[in-house]
Amino acid sequence: MPNSQKKPVVIVTRKLPDTVETRLKELFDARLNVDDKPLSQAQLVEAVKVADVLVPTVTDRIDRSVLAQAGPQLKLIANFGNGVDNIDLDTARNRAITVTNTPGVLTEDTADMTMALILAVPRRLAEGTAYLKEPRNNWTGWSPTWMLGQRIWGKRLGIIGMGRIGQAVARRARAFGLQIHYHNRRKVSEQIEQELEATYWDSLDQMLARMDIISVNCPHTPATYHLLSARRLKLLKPTAYIVNTARGEVIDENELGRLIEAGAIAGAGLDVFEHEPAINPKLLASDRVVALPHMSSATIEGRVDMGEKVIINIKTFLDGHSPPDRVFPGMF
Ligand code: 8YV
Repeated sequence: MPNSQKKPVVIVTRKLPDTVETRLKELFDARLNVDDKPLSQAQLVEAVKVADVLVPTVTDRIDRSVLAQAGPQLKLIANFGNGVDNIDLDTARNRAITVTNTPGVLTEDTADMTMALILAVPRRLAEGTAYLKEPRNNWTGWSPTWMLGQRIWGKRLGIIGMGRIGQAVARRARAFGLQIHYHNRRKVSEQIEQELEATYWDSLDQMLARMDIISVNCPHTPATYHLLSARRLKLLKPTAYIVNTARGEVIDENELGRLIEAGAIAGAGLDVFEHEPAINPKLLASDRVVALPHMSSATIEGRVDMGEKVIINIKTFLDGHSPPDRVFPGMF
């Protein structure tokens, strides 16, 4: 830890909102990324050699080889983001580096976008928009049998991962008349189940086979990597569609593209992808896929709140206390 005269070196890997950066500069020897160019693995290694605190984002892979080269002064990784699958938590713990995240503040924004995708895919918003845009602008007027989508009222929504975001999605979905089903490592409390009128499925396979819409809201961990595998995707009804605002790695993206192209799955609403920023071309080519560039939590309020959390975590830690959003291996 630096001596009392010297401000701690806080390296921030991406550009953050101005108010957050101003505060970081007031409090710390903050090294900012004004160009917002993602750091290479070599640049991350340079950063961990000198930083007292590293503030990475989802675009930084803080893996074993990066952490192995960290200087002994690096004591905190204050992730700007909720998911921590970009950080090797085991290695961080073995090297006595504390890790924090930013839970809670992006729940409602992410749930809003999830709901938008739940509505957009069956009502064919991507097709409708593409139809009017050049070079296809050949709309000749309304017809009663044209552009028919699927009603969502009364349909079954299967939520995979009933944590904060999953529950916020369920609350919204109920207001749209959807029946709530969910799969989770464990049942949520009786009280939450009653509030959401939610049905628990211990067997993911059985739930998948019976749902009209699947929403992925679980974190990406070794246990959830390709949870929606080729085998499981084939269990879905051909009229069903999938929405993913969690992590691309939870779905076998190649297989999803193939099954949508083959008509074995009705469509998908995807905000996240397995190999971001690359996207499977079959998914991009399909009019039955609404694709967004990882922007579910991208509100100005959300980003400022995330920055505030990062600052509180750093301050609390440097003051010798346990930071409020500390994460541990196996917590997700
Ligand atoms: C964030 C996210 O924007 O917080 C998360 O886990 O997936 C995103 O919505 C991103 O992680 C920022 O690092």
